[in-house]
Amino acid sequence: MLLTFKQLLTPEELARARALLLAPEAEWHEGARSAGSQAVAHKHNRQLAPNSPGTDELQALILGALRRDALLFSAALPKKIFNPLFNRYGGDSNHYGAHIDGAVLHSQRPDQWVRTDLSCTVFLADPDSYDGGELHIQDTLGPQRVKLAAGDAVLYPGHHLHEVTPVTRGERLASFFWIESMVRGDEQRRLLFDMDMALLALRQRHGESEETVRLSGTYHRLLRLWAST
Ligand code: NI
Repeated sequence: MLLTFKQLLTPEELARARALLLAPEAEWHEGARSAGSQAVAHKHNRQLAPNSPGTDELQALILGALRRDALLFSAALPKKIFNPLFNRYGGDSNHYGAHIDGAVLHSQRPDQWVRTDLSCTVFLADPDSYDGGELHIQDTLGPQRVKLAAGDAVLYPGHHLHEVTPVTRGERLASFFWIESMVRGDEQRRLLFDMDMALLALRQRHGESEETVRLSGTYHRLLRLWAST
């Protein structure tokens, strides 16, 4: 399942994130320094250094946006969120070949191990400002090509092969991170999300009824059955 979320960031947050990332004092290093053994040969980008000025504010900005997005919360059912990271693609460091992310990764803030049930990318550059830089994901439905408006996000299962195609003009800026879900299985998580969305639509169309209350009860019984906190 691949889901996209429009305007996860407000225009003000987007402007602030860009200003911090492009500030002269921001420190960037070669992305390959933080890649796993399978991915290292394929990673040719730059990544914001963990202690770069502005990191705390940037991470808080992304996490705040995530927490207020009810749709994303329903789709991901987050248990742990990896501290958001930031990357840029352009010039000589312009692509990340096909790779698999590690199943369990260490997040620094807070200091914890996170199982990478879901991957999330938040696009921060206007898609017209760069060529290439598409996120390609090998979904069960075949290859998916993702290049979203600045401020939009994509969520996809962490086990899919994926790559970022070469940026041949301009620069691609993004935030990326992983989510460990309360519901480990993709199928169960998808079923819960579909049910939640159908319930939302039912309520919008007909208001609350005895049936929507009963179905909500069923949703929560399934969530209780499958969730671990
Ligand atoms: Ni990756």
